[in-house]
Amino acid sequence: MTDILTHAEAGVMTITLNRLDRKNSITSAMYGAMADSLAAAEADASIRVVVLQGHETIFSAGNDIGDFLNRPPAGTESPVFRFLRGIATFPKPLLAAVCGPAVGVGTTMLFHCDLVFAGDNAAFSMPFVNLGLCPEAASSLLVPQMFGYHRAAEALLLGEPFMAEAALEAGLVNRVLPPTEANAYAQSQARKLAGKPISALVETKRLMKKAQQPAVLQQMGEEGASFGRMLREPAAREAFTAFMEKRKPDFSKC
Ligand code: COA
Repeated sequence: MTDILTHAEAGVMTITLNRLDRKNSITSAMYGAMADSLAAAEADASIRVVVLQGHETIFSAGNDIGDFLNRPPAGTESPVFRFLRGIATFPKPLLAAVCGPAVGVGTTMLFHCDLVFAGDNAAFSMPFVNLGLCPEAASSLLVPQMFGYHRAAEALLLGEPFMAEAALEAGLVNRVLPPTEANAYAQSQARKLAGKPISALVETKRLMKKAQQPAVLQQMGEEGASFGRMLREPAAREAFTAFMEKRKPDFSKC
């Protein structure tokens, strides 16, 4: 699996999205590889921190649309759901470095990271409605909580991109950096965390997340059921087919 690269060094596991010719869009196999890497990082006592990163020009174009069209995920044990549950329940610090576009799950996965560092070229978007879909990864719960309802409605109903500075102001991003420095800065912060007592890190994270965790998992399950159904409905089929055919979708009958 070269589309996902995993590297472990000095207590830090780095998971890199590496499918640049398809703008780091994520296939079922890539979700599976990332879910497996997270499970391995959780079980391995020598790994204390995980960093998710892309390239300085692109974080991720979200789900691979062809993959979704041809092989829509089925059930809660599908790779995408294993990955989403994995990031929502990962007990050790989880960091992300994001540059360029972060579309769909490329943005929603960040709500489960503890620290997010963005290149000043980062462009976040959650265009689920534009694709005939609904939010996933518990973003319908977490985005309103973090942004406030009206800004969440702007992000989730209009689905328009927002840039790194807006994400910083909304609280999704900890720091904005030149794109050439974002991955390295995430590594330096990860190494700092890896030098701290792991029991204290894990317990602090557990306490910060515990009130919210059941609601997050419940929302994720409900979104997943709707998302799975909507993937097979006319609006999403039209949006995905239009993307593949490089034309504007026609929702006049959806
Ligand atoms: N799934 C499958 N293929 C994708 C993709 C995706 N999510 N995103 C991009 N690609 C493919 C494009 O079809 C294109 O293929 P081609 O070279 O055969 O024409 C290639 O990757 C390059 O993409 P392109 O759109 O030309 O790059 P760009 O730099 O102009 O734009 C994005 C980058 C991310 C803004 C744009 O590709 C995009 O909006 N992608 C779709 C995002 C999306 O709707 N994701 C689904 C979320 S659920």
